Parts: sequence; structure tokens; C-alpha cells
Amino acid sequence: MGKVYVFDHPLIQHKMALMRDKNTSTKDFRELVNEIGLLMGYEATRDLELEEVEIETPICPTKAKMLPSISVAIVPILRAGLGLVDGLMSLIPNAKIGHVGLYRDPVTHEPHDYYCKMPEDLDRRKVFVVDPMLATGGSAVAAIDFIKKQGAKNITFMCLIAAPEGIEVLQNAHPDVDIYIAAKDDHLNENAYIVPGLGDAGDRLFGTK
Ligand code: PRP
Ligand code: URA
Repeated sequence: MGKVYVFDHPLIQHKMALMRDKNTSTKDFRELVNEIGLLMGYEATRDLELEEVEIETPICPTKAKMLPSISVAIVPILRAGLGLVDGLMSLIPNAKIGHVGLYRDPVTHEPHDYYCKMPEDLDRRKVFVVDPMLATGGSAVAAIDFIKKQGAKNITFMCLIAAPEGIEVLQNAHPDVDIYIAAKDDHLNENAYIVPGLGDAGDRLFGTK
């Protein structure tokens, strides 16, 4: 079974409180998602493999460790996942980006796909699938199903807020995938929104409501 890591770092918890607040502006919300993504990314990339390289300091030649040129892919689930990309990209600038477009049907809450474009060498990369919200788990499972069909073998899911229901669904469907979350919330309401949550992540990120 994949592991679930809940981040309890004080900086992340502080920024999560600001971000959840309904009075936080779209601009501040977007900045906070970006900052939290960066802080989470720092820890979530702890296990990346390095390769030994020869470099020369001003004093002498030496061996050092660097990320290989083919190392990471970041796959945001559109649209809200886009908010987490810049923070991760500032940590790993040579990562390739794939996109999966999914939206939840407002009545059935089932995910519907509308777009997908992946880097060709997905099988050689550690793939970070990112989305601020893991609610029923339907979107994350559908996205990872698709990414695996495209050849990905090493996948991590990263989100800001997860409901216990979504964690269970994702772990059962993809037991090989580790899950990184900034907060595990209480439950889903009758509209499958996370409680207490933050509302609709896409709308808050892009100011569409
Ligand atoms: C939100 C969110 C996730 C999904 C989570 O996206 O960003 O992708 O819901 O819900 P689930 O775990 O129940 O599938 P939404 O479908 O609202 O689309 P949007 O990002 O375009 O707003
Ligand atoms: N999608 C969101 O944006 N928020 C939720 O609480 C659940 C799904």
C-alpha cells in the first residue's frame, strides 16, 4: 500500500489557514497555493535519485551529485492543479510538464476527461501528479489510470487537502502511489465538497465565481 504523508510543518499550516479563509483574495490565494506547493515539493522530492558528476571548483577537480537530465515530470490535473506547477518548477526547472484535463460532473461527481498531453519519456521519469483537492478520489484515480497507460511507472500524488474518503479510494485503486498532503480534513458533504476544505479550488484560483 502506498504511504500517506501529511505535512505538519508550521509554515505550511500557517499558509493553509490563510488560503482556506473565504475572505482571501484570488491573488493571495494563487500566491499561497504556489508557496505551499514549493514547500511541499521540497520534501516530496527527498527520494529523487542523483548521479555522480565530475566538476571543477576554483580550488580543484571533485566529484559531486546532480539530478540526471531526465528525472521528473509534473502532471497537473486541470484546471486547479495548474496552481501547483510554478512552485514545483522553481525547484526542478528541467522537469517536463504533462496535462490531464478532467472536470467533475456537478450531479454525479464522476470525472470527465477533456484533454491529455504527456511527455514521451514518461516511463523514465518520476511523475508528480498534482491537484489541490482529493475529494471522492475519482479525478485522481482517472488521471493516474491514464498516466499509467502512457507508460509511467513511478508516480506520486500531491495535493493540499484530502478527504479520508478520497485517500481510501486512491489507495485501493493505485496501491503503488504515495500520497503527499498538506492537510487531511474531516469528511465530504452531500455535494462531495471537502469539509472544512476551502470551497471550489478552481474557482478560487482563477476567480471564476
Ligand atoms: C476539482 C479538483 C479536483 C477534483 C477533486 O476539480 O481540482 O480535480 O475537483 O474531486 P474528486 O476527488 O471528487 O474527483 P473540478 O472537477 O472542480 O474542476 P476544475 O479544476 O476545472 O474546477
Ligand atoms: N473540488 C473542489 O474544488 N473542492 C472540493 O471541496 C471538492 C472537489
